[in-house]
Amino acid sequence: MDLMTAVSLAGALFVTLLAVTFGYFVILLLLVHAKYDHLPGPKRTSFFFGNALEIAKATRSPVSAEPDASKISSYELFYKWFEEYGDTYVMFLMHNTLTMTRNRAILKTILTATDPKAFPKSEKLKARYIYGVRCMGDGLATAVDHDVWYVHRKIMDPMFHRNHLQLATDAFNSTGDSFLKSLQKCVESGETCQLAQLLHYATLDVIMKTMFSFDTSDLDSEFHKASVHFIKEFFVAMQLVFIPTAEYNPLFSNHRKSVRNTITSFRDRGAQIIKARKSAICNNEDVPNDFLTTILKAHLDPSTGYDFETLVDEFITMIVAGMETSANTLAFIFMELGRRPDLYERLTAEVDDAIGQKAFISNEDISKLKFTAMLIKESLRKYAIAPAIIRNCAKETTVDGIRLPADSNIVLHILGANNDKKFIEDAEVFNPDRFNPQNDERVPVYSFLSFSLGARNCVGQVFAQMEMKVMLAKFAQHYNLILDESETFQMGQTGTLHPLNGVKCRIVNRH
Ligand code: HEM
Ligand SMILES: *[C@@H]1O[C@H](CO)[C@@H](O)[C@H](O)[C@H]1NC(C)=O
Repeated sequence: MDLMTAVSLAGALFVTLLAVTFGYFVILLLLVHAKYDHLPGPKRTSFFFGNALEIAKATRSPVSAEPDASKISSYELFYKWFEEYGDTYVMFLMHNTLTMTRNRAILKTILTATDPKAFPKSEKLKARYIYGVRCMGDGLATAVDHDVWYVHRKIMDPMFHRNHLQLATDAFNSTGDSFLKSLQKCVESGETCQLAQLLHYATLDVIMKTMFSFDTSDLDSEFHKASVHFIKEFFVAMQLVFIPTAEYNPLFSNHRKSVRNTITSFRDRGAQIIKARKSAICNNEDVPNDFLTTILKAHLDPSTGYDFETLVDEFITMIVAGMETSANTLAFIFMELGRRPDLYERLTAEVDDAIGQKAFISNEDISKLKFTAMLIKESLRKYAIAPAIIRNCAKETTVDGIRLPADSNIVLHILGANNDKKFIEDAEVFNPDRFNPQNDERVPVYSFLSFSLGARNCVGQVFAQMEMKVMLAKFAQHYNLILDESETFQMGQTGTLHPLNGVKCRIVNRH
């Protein structure tokens, strides 16, 4: 065989291979389309990309520095599509699909399933491993194997029980005071401040103190900056699940590299904190009786199967689950309080009446804050900051006449369910009185999914509500806020939902 023949043969082989791969992909797409075609949904605007391009076009980019206020968050788009296509619809992202639902029967079937293998969390959840780097791994929120999860949850549940939250009350107190100090700086400067940022620092401080007895009370510390940076990169990566090519497209290679580095170095920070405590325990030193000691004891007991990397997973999990969530819920509350002086008046009246100017707010004080509790619940309902959760439907299942194919990804749209006008009157109105215990018309269970339901509900929900009450009460004891004129009351989205402009406001003394 001469050289020419060899080259043309190789060329022909290459072209054939390309054609076969292409053909295979086309067939795969056709099969996926056929598998889901019985479900309603937005028209595929591209054979290859499905709805991905349209989503990218209609929604704000997660990677741009300046948010485009003329566009909406992807979850608002998905919410809009409920109005157009009904309570369950399918979206195509190349050869992947997401089935969105706010159908009550489906939500109930999935969230309260007694067989833990029927609707598991997916192995492929991006938060577990991001661009090949372990992130939340087998931490409590992303553990997939039911038995592994169950052991961990049994260890953690007691830590989050109301009776065990004294350590937390102390942290709420001292973090609350640091929060007040940074607010005082805003008062003295008279300048506009971004309340959301102060809140992020405060909620991180609370997590680090209660869980790890790690003091970050200097709210401007290097640790805070590193955490905020980590959270930001983490959520940008998470949001790129809607752009499936982000996994390998060279255009995203800088992004992927930066995210990998950030996660690796943040895990290292966690590992150092954990190692220091581990040697203190092994040397029989006095150690705080906190979350970290509890999980380390589990780690030192081989029967639990808690290896060191899983401890680091929990460190990441607590920060991801506990920082943004509470901070953004608070930020939405402050946004509404700024817009509605009548509500702020009710809050200050309650705080003045129930605790006055007391600096330390005890558990007993917290339980007196009934209106504050309603305010928090309404914010959680309307601005479900964790707007959706995802489960895998392992076997073909038909609920309410809707057939969910085997191995499909079901997105339980919490924001959609919480704001479904069929079940909740004037859903778009921020009305804390919906949650007034004296109100006969209770908010239906499936209109308040903000902490999810069932076995894998939010382990931190009591903790979060106590924390938010303390922060609100401390604020209300001292200050008024005046929203910046630029406020648009829009939702932004970087993973969790948040007020788009970060609640720019001026803070003034109340007294
Ligand atoms: C306003 C505050 C919060 C909201 C709205 C919220 C919401 C949620 C939701 C919707 C889930 C279910 C996730 C899923 O199924 O994929 C969840 C789970 C979880 N949350 Fe929260 N959360 C909040 C605060 C916290 C805090 C403060 C902590 C920890 C200190 C925490 C720790 C967790 C953990 C560990 C899980 C996983 C539980 C499991 O799978 O067993 N959360 N949260
Ligand atoms: C509350 O926090 C402040 C500031 O850290 C501290 O000085 C005070 O002793 C704390 N109060 C109680 C009762 O722990």
